[in-house]
Amino acid sequence: MSRYAYVNGRYVPHGRAQVHIEDRGYQFADGIYEVVAVRHGRLVDEGPHLDRLDRSLAEMRMAAPMARAPLRHAMREVIRRNRVADGIVYMQVTRGAAPREHAFPKAAKPALVITAKRLLPKFAQMEKGVSVITLPDIRWKRRDIKTVNLTANVLAKQQAVEAGAFDAWLVDEGGMVSEGTASNAWIVTKDKELVTHTPDYRILNGITRLSVRALAETEGYRFVERPFSLAEAQAAAEAFITGTTAWVTPVIAIDKKQVGDGKPGPLTRALQRLYATYADNPA
Ligand code: PDD
Repeated sequence: MSRYAYVNGRYVPHGRAQVHIEDRGYQFADGIYEVVAVRHGRLVDEGPHLDRLDRSLAEMRMAAPMARAPLRHAMREVIRRNRVADGIVYMQVTRGAAPREHAFPKAAKPALVITAKRLLPKFAQMEKGVSVITLPDIRWKRRDIKTVNLTANVLAKQQAVEAGAFDAWLVDEGGMVSEGTASNAWIVTKDKELVTHTPDYRILNGITRLSVRALAETEGYRFVERPFSLAEAQAAAEAFITGTTAWVTPVIAIDKKQVGDGKPGPLTRALQRLYATYADNPA
C-alpha cells in the first residue's frame, strides 16, 4: 500500500516526502511534536493533544503553522489517505528553514509535517507486563515541552533494549523517578494509592496520564501526584506506565527486582480495562 505524508501544504508519497536541509528542526531540534492514537478510525483525545501542541508552541515562542480547524482536517486526510483504522498520527512543527543562526530567523515560516501509520495496540505486552531498568535523567529542565530533542531519550531507550528491558525509567539527582523515555511512570502503594509524578517541568504531562487519572477518580481510586523514589517503586505493590502507544502497560520488574509478586497487579488490570474501553469509544 502506498503511504502519504502531509508536508507544508501538500500531500506527497511518503518515500518522496522531504524538508529542507536547513530546517531548524534538523539543525537545532528547534521544533515540537505530538503523537495521537487512532482507534477504530477515530482519534483518541484529539482535543487535549491539540491543546498540548498549542502549549508547546507558546512555550517555544513559535507561531502555529495553521489554525485548528484546517489542522484537524489535514490530520483526518492523512489518516484517510493511509487507510489507518488502528495506529498513530505524528505531527511535527519546526520553526522553519533558514540560514543557520541560533537566534530566531526573521523570515522563516513554521514547517508542518503530518504522517500516519498502522499500529495495533500492543495487547500481548499489556497482558504480560514489561521490565524496566533505571538510568540517570540527563535531560534538560523543560521536559514539559514536547520538543523533538529526544537525544537523551534515544540513548536511554537503546541502553534499555541492550539490557534486555522494554524501557528505562529516568531517575533525577535526588533519586526520584521522573518518567520513562516515552511514557509516564506510576506506582500503586501497599495501601492502594496511585502515585505519579507532579506535572511540572520535570516530566511531560502525558495525555494518557490525564485520561487514566480521570478514569481512576471516577472509580473512586485514591490518587496522588508527587515524585516517588526508586526504592519506593521497587517496594511498591504494583507499577505501570501510560502513554499513547503503551496505553496502560504493567511494569513487573525494575532493575531486575520484581515488583509485587512479579505479575501485573489488580489495580493496574482495572485501569487497563477502563482505558481500553475509553480508547475504544473516544469522546
Ligand atoms: N511519547 N513522557 C515522555 C517523555 C513522552 O515522550 C511521552 C509520549 C509520554 C506520554 O505522553 P502521552 O500519554 O501524551 O503519549 C510521557 C510519544 C508517544 C512518543 O514520543 O512517541
